[in-house]
Amino acid sequence: MGGKLAIAVLVSGQGRGSNLQALLEGCASGQIAGQIAVVIGTRADAPALERARSAGVPVAVVSPRKYEGDEAGYAEALGRILKRYDIGLICLAGYMRKLPSSIIAAYHQRILNIHPALLPLFGGRGMYGEHVHQAVLESGMKVTGCTVHFVDEEYDTGPIVLQTAVPVFDEDTPQTLAARVLAEEHCAYVRAVQLFAEGRLRVEGRRVFITGGE
Ligand code: GRF
Repeated sequence: MGGKLAIAVLVSGQGRGSNLQALLEGCASGQIAGQIAVVIGTRADAPALERARSAGVPVAVVSPRKYEGDEAGYAEALGRILKRYDIGLICLAGYMRKLPSSIIAAYHQRILNIHPALLPLFGGRGMYGEHVHQAVLESGMKVTGCTVHFVDEEYDTGPIVLQTAVPVFDEDTPQTLAARVLAEEHCAYVRAVQLFAEGRLRVEGRRVFITGGE
């Protein structure tokens, strides 16, 4: 491949883009041996896209609505952009949809997602944003956290790369819990992408091993 790893970040809707920001900073500081080559959103007015523009990163909008009932068309539109930027890693950062299966197949073990809970708990369809943290509080769990994982055909089920745990306190609300988890998401996502960019992730079945390093 040669050169730096080219990364595409995908965000949905009105995504605020704090994980995108962490990845941009991780690349800028040199922690990640790669660069965010393009940010792809589903809506032009997403704050995440604004962050990309401010960082001088190209932005593309592919609206799934435009391709309602035409998954092949949506996949082709996404695929064209990914090829144009010679993308080696796709990072989902607040991307709420399932990616078309042809993209998942074409980028096998080259798509990462961040989820605001300790998978395999509190994942799957409908488990996003405050729903996750509400469910954690209702469950009575004393710890929660975040998970970076490879993306497969289902929601939140791919091999787990990294997890970070945080405590759940008696006085927590979904909002306070979300904030505590989000701070850890940024570190975990940057670290996972760093390891990927250094070629240090080895997947065996459901397990991901971190190789090399000092
Ligand atoms: C994060 O909580 C992430 O875990 C989930 O979507 C949220 C995106 O937040 N997948 P942000 O747009 O990165 O701030």
